Amino acid sequence: MNPTLRPRRLRQSAPMRRLVAETRIHPAQLVLPMFVAEGIDEPKPISSMPGQVQHTLDSAAREVERAIAAGVGGVMLFGVPEHKDAVGSGADAPDGILNRATAFLAERFGDQTVVQTDLCLDEFTDHGHCGVLTAAGEVDNDATLERYAAMAVAQAEAGSQLLGLSGMMDGQVAHVRAALDAAGHETTAILAYSAKYASALYGPFREAVDSSLTGDRKTYQQDPANRREGLREAILDLAEGADIVMVKPASLYLDVLADVAAVADVPVWAYQVSGEYAMVEAAAANGWIDRDRLIAESLTSIVRAGADGVLTYWAIEQAEWIGARA
Ligand code: PBG
Repeated sequence: MNPTLRPRRLRQSAPMRRLVAETRIHPAQLVLPMFVAEGIDEPKPISSMPGQVQHTLDSAAREVERAIAAGVGGVMLFGVPEHKDAVGSGADAPDGILNRATAFLAERFGDQTVVQTDLCLDEFTDHGHCGVLTAAGEVDNDATLERYAAMAVAQAEAGSQLLGLSGMMDGQVAHVRAALDAAGHETTAILAYSAKYASALYGPFREAVDSSLTGDRKTYQQDPANRREGLREAILDLAEGADIVMVKPASLYLDVLADVAAVADVPVWAYQVSGEYAMVEAAAANGWIDRDRLIAESLTSIVRAGADGVLTYWAIEQAEWIGARA
């Protein structure tokens, strides 16, 4: 018998497929992560992330201009300091590179885009951990919260509109919220990296920020084996007052992303991290993969799984590409 139910009817032509597509990406839901380095006078390429650079303040400003012109929704700043110490002093110093870059960019572009900042100590500590250490060398959760509070106030004062809490300390959202409110920064929003996994996909990023880490982050970032725990972390952050919750990395954690998206009553974001970027660029450079199709497919998959917003190093390129096709 011939089939009467024919799903292929809706796939028969490009216009028909476009009409019934369930997932569409808009440039405004893309966020560009950017690295701003101290002590360089021209942009410095990051070899593990072809096409990405450590920026000077001036080149960062030009990049933010491009992002705005392309319709990208926001930029997320990371700082690469020249000097590091055990407590990450550069993180909350008003003249620390991240705070200087934030002030410089927020002042120029804060009314046209959302200038966001990574709130974590790892770029600023000489041991490379996301928190301060006990005498025994373990990451001290509650002492770290005090450092995050100081960092949050410094970033808000520099003009960051959205703080990306990426350190995976327990109670960090509530603690930072209280510190911001006490300092009169109740309008500064919190993006909680809620379900952040201890992933091999962060490898290229460690070069991008000149990371000093030896060892791993497995006592604070999550075990890739755990799905239910990712949901629990997100629920805790919602209860602590997160304005946006995030799952990271994106592609290998779409199940967790879908779980979080099913329950969250705030926007849910995902971070397509450095390793996701580097794998595609490397395969494409070898001629083994159709780069442009894979980038579009990967972003579509992340949004299809439930992300309202995506941090991606391809933000400008994708936004321009979407704009050109619209
Ligand atoms: C921590 C932080 C990391 C990334 C973003 N924030 C590194 C880590 O946890 O080791 C990784 C981002 C990427 O790989 O693109 N401040």
